[in-house]
Amino acid sequence: MPQDDYVLGRSAAETQRLILQHQIYGPLTRRFLHAAGVGAGMRVLDAGSGAGDVALLLADLVGPSGAVVGVEENPAIVETASARVDAAGWRNVSFVVGDLRDAPVPEGFDAVVGRWVLMYQPDPADVLRRLATRVRIGGIVAFHENDFSYPPTVFPESDLARQVLRWSVPPPGAPGPEMRMGTQLYRAYLEAGLPGPELMVEAPAGGGPDWPGYGYVADTLRSLLPALQRATGLDPAEVDVDTLAERMRADVVGRSAVQMLPLMFGAWARRSV
Ligand SMILES: C[S@@+](CC[C@H](N)C(=O)[O-])C[C@H]1O[C@@H](n2cnc3c(N)ncnc32)[C@H](O)[C@@H]1O
Repeated sequence: MPQDDYVLGRSAAETQRLILQHQIYGPLTRRFLHAAGVGAGMRVLDAGSGAGDVALLLADLVGPSGAVVGVEENPAIVETASARVDAAGWRNVSFVVGDLRDAPVPEGFDAVVGRWVLMYQPDPADVLRRLATRVRIGGIVAFHENDFSYPPTVFPESDLARQVLRWSVPPPGAPGPEMRMGTQLYRAYLEAGLPGPELMVEAPAGGGPDWPGYGYVADTLRSLLPALQRATGLDPAEVDVDTLAERMRADVVGRSAVQMLPLMFGAWARRSV
């Protein structure tokens, strides 16, 4: 994937956004990986490992008798991920810098796992097909992807919540990531020659002053702003992203409302041929 296509940018702020995102979505990913059958002693490939949050979660699931290999095209974020793995004391996690489609990773993994990565691929089924060849027959292919069919929502609604919802969803056909990858996973598995996957869907939700969702939504919009500006002409002054988290917090807390974040779809299947 050419560097400029990674619409959320590659800054240190983006790395921090990924880490905050994991604080919210990590428990969902753990439940998903457990349901998919990832467990102690397995050798797992983590596709698009980013700042290492899924690799760290996998290290905990497979334990010292297992191993995790992350593959990631951005060398700067691999440095961050490696430092975090070292700080956590894991010796069985390593990273390969390269493109998912042709990085030099060995075969015979018990599972390949990825989160928020197929949504960035021009041809997700092709990437799935290639990654599945790294897994042994009977091994697990498990991907966890957002679907903005239900974008960030507040119940009950408010003017601000409706605005955030409108800003968060690029118009159909806009360049950038596939915001409905979750509901497209089933088809992508079939097109990749894999069995129709089992699916699971979950969304984080919360309220009150300490809920991290307000900051997460604001940070995501901050990362997306340049691309949204190009695609839709969205005026950054209208979003006023620097005050957005506090305005959302005041809106939700003041009305004892709840915020629901975008759905996560998990898909898993076992390689059969
Ligand atoms: C949104 S981040 C998610 C990181 C991590 N999976 C997580 O859940 O925290 C997507 C990552 O995938 C990487 N990536 C996207 N397409 C890639 C490709 N074709 N080959 C290798 N890495 C890729 C990006 O550089 C980025 O670090």
